[in-house]
Amino acid sequence: MEASRRRSAYLSNIAVDPDFRRRGIARAATVFLLEEAKGCARIDLVTHPDNAAAIALYRSLGFEVESRKENYFGDGQPRVVMLRGVRTEIITSRLLLRPAAGADRMQLHRLEQDSEVMR
Ligand SMILES: CC(C)(COP(=O)(O)OP(=O)(O)OC[C@H]1O[C@@H](n2cnc3c(N)ncnc32)[C@H](O)[C@@H]1OP(=O)(O)O)[C@@H](O)C(=O)NCCC(=O)NCCS
Repeated sequence: MEASRRRSAYLSNIAVDPDFRRRGIARAATVFLLEEAKGCARIDLVTHPDNAAAIALYRSLGFEVESRKENYFGDGQPRVVMLRGVRTEIITSRLLLRPAAGADRMQLHRLEQDSEVMR
């Protein structure tokens, strides 16, 4: 478990024949891949910022836009990097690394971390 949590996964080339879109095929395929990668601390992918269908699909499965790169593949086109999982991992690590303290201080730390998740 510990070793697998340090791994990351990159999803690419998810595409559905135009005649078969909007039937849940990409969602089912992506859910399958996420299950395959469930031990990974970070799962990411890139897509074009104008690709509303792909961005809606990935957002609905818990991905968030991490950053935008103007020439990601060297084709002069922008891409957004979307990721799932790393924020939870970082916050979990920070909580584990907090030094032991009195109950009041630990409570305060936990509230600060919770508000960070909400941002
Ligand atoms: C993006 C793509 C893979 C979606 O495939 P799909 O099988 O039609 O998607 P699904 O039917 O599983 O839809 C899942 C969700 O994606 C989003 N979605 C899919 N098509 C959409 C569209 N045309 N407009 C807006 N949202 C869309 C919706 O959130 C949808 O959920 P909903 O049906 O509950 O609203 C497909 O449009 C495609 O192959 N596009 C070309 C290749 C591509 O751009 N791949 C992504 C590269 S990162």
